[in-house]
Amino acid sequence: MVQLKISSPSKNNINLYYKENVNELPARVQEVITDPGALNVTYMIAPAGINLYVCLGEEAKVKNNTYRQAAAKSYKQAKDLKLKDVNLNVENASEEVVLAIVEGILIQSYEFLAYKKEPNPTEMTVNFNVDKKYQILLDNALKVNDKVSIARDLVNKGNYDVNTLTVCETVLDLAKKYNLKATIIDDKELEALGMGLICAVGRGGATPPRVAIIEYKGNPKSKDVYALVGKGMVYDTGGLNIKPTGAMETMRSDMAGSVTVLATTLALADLKVPVNVTCFMALADNGVDAMSYKPGDTFQAYNGKYVEIGNTDAEGRLVLADTVAYAVDKYKPVQLIDVATLTGACMIALGHNTAGLMTNNSEMVQKLLENSRKTDESMWELPMLEEFSEAMKGQFSDLKNISSEKYGGAMTGAAFIKEFVGNTEWTHIDIAGPSFMDKPTQYYDYGATGFGVRTLVQYFESL
Ligand code: BES
Ligand code: ZN
Ligand code: ZN
Repeated sequence: MVQLKISSPSKNNINLYYKENVNELPARVQEVITDPGALNVTYMIAPAGINLYVCLGEEAKVKNNTYRQAAAKSYKQAKDLKLKDVNLNVENASEEVVLAIVEGILIQSYEFLAYKKEPNPTEMTVNFNVDKKYQILLDNALKVNDKVSIARDLVNKGNYDVNTLTVCETVLDLAKKYNLKATIIDDKELEALGMGLICAVGRGGATPPRVAIIEYKGNPKSKDVYALVGKGMVYDTGGLNIKPTGAMETMRSDMAGSVTVLATTLALADLKVPVNVTCFMALADNGVDAMSYKPGDTFQAYNGKYVEIGNTDAEGRLVLADTVAYAVDKYKPVQLIDVATLTGACMIALGHNTAGLMTNNSEMVQKLLENSRKTDESMWELPMLEEFSEAMKGQFSDLKNISSEKYGGAMTGAAFIKEFVGNTEWTHIDIAGPSFMDKPTQYYDYGATGFGVRTLVQYFESL
């Protein structure tokens, strides 16, 4: 746990320096900083305490994300040095810069200790040498990060501990804590509602499918409701089209979309952002079982369309399709955003650290991109061409769940979901890459990142 304070000075210091000021540093530190801007952290043990130094490079060229990374790296070093408290010093930082530094420390301070015999959580107080007026910014950043950590915990825990039923229990507990209305649709009701796709995916699971709905009404005067829909595959074995070794190991993270929308909704509630958001978690376990749905099966979705199964590993679009169609029909949202670890193809297109955005409304995607530039959660728009929709048409059925084209897998996945949104303004966010890190990256350690929460919160704050 990290505590953030203003004006409770420590004898230890983290000093963020610009290249222009390097010559003011002690000679020994100057020797070590051979490559200013490389964010190498050096430290000196002084009689009074320990001083850490990070050179950010030329002030004019320093980006917000550089501050985030520098803060995270020096926090990590302070943790390795077992410091209990430290001041963070940076010259005349603007609000944006203070926020970036605070975020870097908070994100980096996340520890997942549930599977340690002796957890030993880090306890550190970071004292920001900034104006008192930034207290509210610190408090709000903490509130958001709390929810990001909830999302990270749920993904990091194994499927043995986190299944469709335990997620629903967690949702109900959290909804109570934040005074939000929560509803769980169980498998029998899903069947009765005609949500044949999520039922099909969930049939081979160890626990049955569920849709969890959490409603936040931050703007009671307005009738406008925004819908967030998340893919919550508590585990994706691939189903009967089973994933090979090397592709399955991290598939407990296939629920990242659902916890991202949950965490966003909780954060909006905690921050009292004046907006109405209803979030839908499409929960299922894509398992291998005698009851598993099979390639060549055809199922009817909530909106009546028939879908032939070409591959049981393209299950995310199925659970999303039903849930999106349900959300649109029952809640008539002004906008709908779905978040999903949908395709490996999106990672091939954009790399590990960038989410793909696909939309039927370019204004909406521009706003999301603008906000993602503020949070430095990297996002990039991918095109939604008519040919991608063509490629998802079935032989006998209205649709099939895999494309007849080899290329463009991220977009054909989105083109499938598009068939279920009707005229609603919609953006699909594919977070297959950035939701989970195989190795420490920027301010993330190995594991779940909670990617997307900060941008979505920022998006709703900007409306
Ligand atoms: N959950 C996977 C996508 C994924 C892959 C997420 C790697 C995170 C990391 C998804 O359900 C899947 O298996 N998609 C298939 C789709 C294909 C069968 C059309 C894929 O990407 O290969
Ligand atoms: Zn899959
Ligand atoms: Zn999946």
